[in-house]
Amino acid sequence: MRIAMIGAGYVGLVSGACLSDFGHEVVCIDKDKSKVRALLDGKIPIYEPGLDDLIARNVREQRLTFRTGLAETVAAADAVFIGVGTPSRRGDGHADLSYVHQAAREIGAAISGYTVVVTKSTVPVGTGDEVERIIREINPKADFAVVSNPEFLREGAAINDFKRPDRIVVGTDDERAKKMMQEIYRPLYLNRSPLVFMSRRTAELTKYAANAFLATKIAFINEIADLCEQVEANVQDVSRGIGLDNRIGSKFLHAGPGYGGSCFPKDTLALMKTAQDYGAPLRIIETVVASNDQRKRAMARKIIAACGGSVRGKTIAILGLTFKPNTDDMREAPSIAIITALQDAGARVRAYDPEGIEQAQLVMGNVEYADDPYSCAEGAAALVIVTEWDAFRALDMRRLKNIIPSGIVVDLRNIYHPDEMAEYGFTYRSIGRAE
Ligand code: UGA
Repeated sequence: MRIAMIGAGYVGLVSGACLSDFGHEVVCIDKDKSKVRALLDGKIPIYEPGLDDLIARNVREQRLTFRTGLAETVAAADAVFIGVGTPSRRGDGHADLSYVHQAAREIGAAISGYTVVVTKSTVPVGTGDEVERIIREINPKADFAVVSNPEFLREGAAINDFKRPDRIVVGTDDERAKKMMQEIYRPLYLNRSPLVFMSRRTAELTKYAANAFLATKIAFINEIADLCEQVEANVQDVSRGIGLDNRIGSKFLHAGPGYGGSCFPKDTLALMKTAQDYGAPLRIIETVVASNDQRKRAMARKIIAACGGSVRGKTIAILGLTFKPNTDDMREAPSIAIITALQDAGARVRAYDPEGIEQAQLVMGNVEYADDPYSCAEGAAALVIVTEWDAFRALDMRRLKNIIPSGIVVDLRNIYHPDEMAEYGFTYRSIGRAE
């Protein structure tokens, strides 16, 4: 199969690389000349474990390449995937579809022979109809079908998620397109990953519903964690106690500082807006969004309380800045709201992250960045774990105890054990556990 992947961002690069690894001929197209040049030089613009090797192998074996212009590639392609960004539109929270529409116009002008146009980007219900209308308007004779095929990739685990998916959702009523999608995902399909066919609009909504449900699970367990702290219960035991019920499931019940990243905050907001527009408001999601927003600042209040009620003039050491481990992504990271609130309360902030410092510097200039966890903690009034990088799980606690005079540790991801921390002599605060 010849595949054109429009957009060499996160979704496009991972999907393009994995599809080429299945044996398809893939061209990733991006307007950004310097990005394409870097990719051709073997430089990968994002941090994703395993992606550099995967790209290098498929480039070497000539199944994967990168280009700036799309006309030639789209004309020759059996399938054209749209993997461009759909950021939140400033002001109203709706998804900004200008990149998707632009891609549709360019595809319309270039398409030739029967072509399946696949939206991989997360797009509001009805976007497939609009993409179809745009292509048809530009090229009335074009022979094509527009399919929705949302991605369910987690950053940091994206390659595994692509190659071992729980399911592949395909939204189309076109029989030729169904066959083509089956062919594209053949290796997964043969491996018994279910290919779930549905209407295009249903597939578009399924993506939002999945993310909104996962966000709801997180917001739910976070609120239960707050209650645990008040009634001397343990949220981790609650998670296990409810998660072993198959109807609930154990995943995404890890209490923390609130969800972040480029997907959950944006998608819950967009879904909420769509539902309001259609007169079918999603009250639960509205509450989830508000609860998660409030939570980030509540975490700063928790840190201030642990420091005896004031952080004015004190240095707070933050370990972990990215929205989750194994990424350098700072988008909507809880660390940003927490650090801002601490600074508003008069604290100086020193921070360390294994991969995220470069990105963090772009959004937070007034933070002192350390080279390692120990120089970050040196002399701080409190040490705060914000992101659960594995490297923080096995820190030398004796050494830390010696360099943090107050002995205050606030663990917003519950990576340490309260009893052990007490044995080391720390004053330890975590999430949803009575200490
Ligand atoms: C999420 C979904 O998990 C993917 O299935 C989806 O494809 C993707 O969004 C997307 O729409 O593109 P991602 O944003 O990479 O993936 O990250 P997650 O691993 O889902 O984590 C999101 C946030 O939730 C993080 O801030 C994480 O720390 C938080 N989280 C997650 C918790 O606080 N507790 C949990 O139990 C799980």
